[in-house]
Amino acid sequence: MRNILLIISGSIAAYKSLDLIRRLRERECNVRCILTKGGAEFITPLSVASLSGNPVYGDLFSLKDETEMGHIRLTREADVIVVAPASADLIAKMAHGFADDLATAALLASDKKILVAPAMNAQMWKHPATQRNLRRVEKDGAVIIPPSAGSLACGEIGAGRLAEAGDIVKAILDSLSLREMAGVKASSALLSSGASRHPLPEGGGFKALVTSGPTHESIDPVRYLGNRSSGKQGHAIAAALAEVGGDVTLITGPTALPDPEGVRVAHVTSASEMLAACEKALPVNVAVCAAAVSDWRAEAASVRKLKKRGGAATALALVENPDILGHLANHPKKRPILVIGFAAETENLLKNAATKRKNKNADWIVANDVSGGKIFGSDNNEVTLVTAKGGEEWPRMSKEAVAEKLVERIVSYIRKKK
Ligand code: CTP
Repeated sequence: MRNILLIISGSIAAYKSLDLIRRLRERECNVRCILTKGGAEFITPLSVASLSGNPVYGDLFSLKDETEMGHIRLTREADVIVVAPASADLIAKMAHGFADDLATAALLASDKKILVAPAMNAQMWKHPATQRNLRRVEKDGAVIIPPSAGSLACGEIGAGRLAEAGDIVKAILDSLSLREMAGVKASSALLSSGASRHPLPEGGGFKALVTSGPTHESIDPVRYLGNRSSGKQGHAIAAALAEVGGDVTLITGPTALPDPEGVRVAHVTSASEMLAACEKALPVNVAVCAAAVSDWRAEAASVRKLKKRGGAATALALVENPDILGHLANHPKKRPILVIGFAAETENLLKNAATKRKNKNADWIVANDVSGGKIFGSDNNEVTLVTAKGGEEWPRMSKEAVAEKLVERIVSYIRKKK
């Protein structure tokens, strides 16, 4: 469990910290919050307490707060301190070492890494005083998570919008032990940590292949057989593997997603092409088959566009596609140490996934219930990890969070095997 002290200061963006707390808890972080007087003008201590599951602190001179959890202990028990949103006023106070309220006293007393995510009006952001203060805060060792540009709550357009919650979470996790656990350098460009990047134990790194997205099986020059997979989950897994230092090849069917950073990408269309690209990527230590491979293809795709037949029924002969997961898991010479498949089921989730694991000779199956169309295309996922030991239900979380959790498991599995 990682402990995060989140300081929420007076900015209209304070409401976004609620989403940040939720996302951090999804990633198994314990979040304690200090809500400044200004912050409490925008959101209530009750909503912060309900979402964080912890008491909210606000008053430096509260006898109750200081005896239960003084400002020194708040910082000592944190692994990292995050100021989000950081108002121009709080940044100015940090730059000058003020300690006249709980937030500033805690920041001054801190012996931890401090991440600062500013949010303010564009003119305030541009003002030389703010920029000067920020440079000072950064020089004192804080990491700045820059705001983005766009239309601001005040109606003006410019820089000053709080960074996206996902980017703040990423910066926080980069500064925390997930990366240290894998022995790699925090990869975020936002961080200036000097830790050295080296992959998994005993050198040599680890190689991974990930399949993602749907496959399209040609029927004729204008039509194909496809499915509803967006590729979001597979792409997130490839990105998360690269984040911990993996040498990753992503083999993806047609999706609308950009290629993840730091990953070698092979774009394919059909199942046969996907299989050939997987074979080319071998040997790897880990294979994650997240693609929704079409089970069938047309027996003979037509080179000419098929025409309607005046109302008469048209038959389309289909043949089964090769099973890529089964192929990798039963590979005679180059079977990866860990082969992970997915199972999209509409009923008997655990039973069907366990059968699929055995039949395909996979080590793990990530099973999800796709009944009612609740997963395809969505940003969230609710999965059960099925291993030889049985099923482990994970709570509903974002696809990025599923990817990170899965990658943590992969890393610890390979460490034991190496
Ligand atoms: N898979 C694959 N190649 C295929 C079909 C599936 O690699 N031709 C992989 C998927 O990437 C996924 C797993 O197998 O990891 C499960 O796919 P799914 O379609 O759910 O299972 P099927 O084997 O097709 O079984 P069924 O459709 O009967 O549920």
